[in-house]
Amino acid sequence: MTDQQLIENTIVFVKNTLANAEGGHDWFHIERVYKNAIQIAQGENVNLLIVSLGALLHDIADSKFFNGDETIAPRMASEFLLSLDADSAVIEHVVQIIKNISFKGGNKVQAFKSLELDVVQDADRLDALGAIGIARTFNYGGFKNRKLYDPSIVPKLDMTPEEYKASTAPTINHFYEKLLLLKDKMNTKTGRAIAEKRHQYMEAFLKQFYGEWEGKL
Ligand code: ADP
Ligand code: NI
Repeated sequence: MTDQQLIENTIVFVKNTLANAEGGHDWFHIERVYKNAIQIAQGENVNLLIVSLGALLHDIADSKFFNGDETIAPRMASEFLLSLDADSAVIEHVVQIIKNISFKGGNKVQAFKSLELDVVQDADRLDALGAIGIARTFNYGGFKNRKLYDPSIVPKLDMTPEEYKASTAPTINHFYEKLLLLKDKMNTKTGRAIAEKRHQYMEAFLKQFYGEWEGKL
């Protein structure tokens, strides 16, 4: 099978698997991340097949939606790629990307490093920022029945991965616990430049939000 056929088969598999996914983690999230990843990869010396498969498969079974089980996604991805007879080194690398891409509060040591992971991680982080980032965050908050905002519940910046997962804080807190921290964590030049613009947009959104909350705007 050619690389292109491998990618096309993976697209069909991911679309089917995510048919009923939450609006912020559905096929369109994957499609945006895939496009971001290809764009970022132009400025980096990376293996495009690994970047493509990593981007397409990175949220195939997000542990948030599977009782915290982090073993399902890597297993599904490797079984799927094995069924297509993909190269074992490619499968191993894609599995490492899936296992290590996630933020989880930002206080976790990342066990695996590669340029391909850097690219896919930046591509995924960009989709957490800007107008789409805001939309996804409130959609997830609604999905979890979170409050929009509660001034008496302050953001927590020193959460362990376990606390981060278990948090029931209002959605606005997620801006301080994750979204506004991302621009300083970007891996690539292209990713950082786009993140900077989307960050400014979120800062403006928050200013407007608090202004309206106080009835001042
Ligand atoms: P993680 O933060 O665990 O790595 P994701 O990268 O899958 O999870 O998060 C993707 C997006 O889902 C976030 O950028 C945000 O829009 C939304 N999201 C995740 N956790 C929360 C949360 N606790 N509150 C609001 N939105 C969230
Ligand atoms: Ni993602």
